[in-house]
Amino acid sequence: MVEIIIKETEDSMFKVQITIKENGSIRIEADQIELLDSEGKPYNLEGKNSISLCRCGLSNKKPFCDGAHKGKFEHKAVAPE
Ligand code: FES
Repeated sequence: MVEIIIKETEDSMFKVQITIKENGSIRIEADQIELLDSEGKPYNLEGKNSISLCRCGLSNKKPFCDGAHKGKFEHKAVAPE
């Protein structure tokens, strides 16, 4: 399980952008990202302000995307209007 927690900070400019990529990963961009495993232990994301999470299940680097989805996963990510 991957848990995404968005925390509000004292800096009101804090922003997280999550993009569902077409036929691919979930891209997360933020000033700070803390990604915890199912036991609450953080992944080492030192210096990173963007990550891509696998949503196809084919990555060998789960929970991160390693590009294995290419040509093997289809989902048109379009938000309903
Ligand atoms: S979404 Fe890229 S490997 Fe699964």
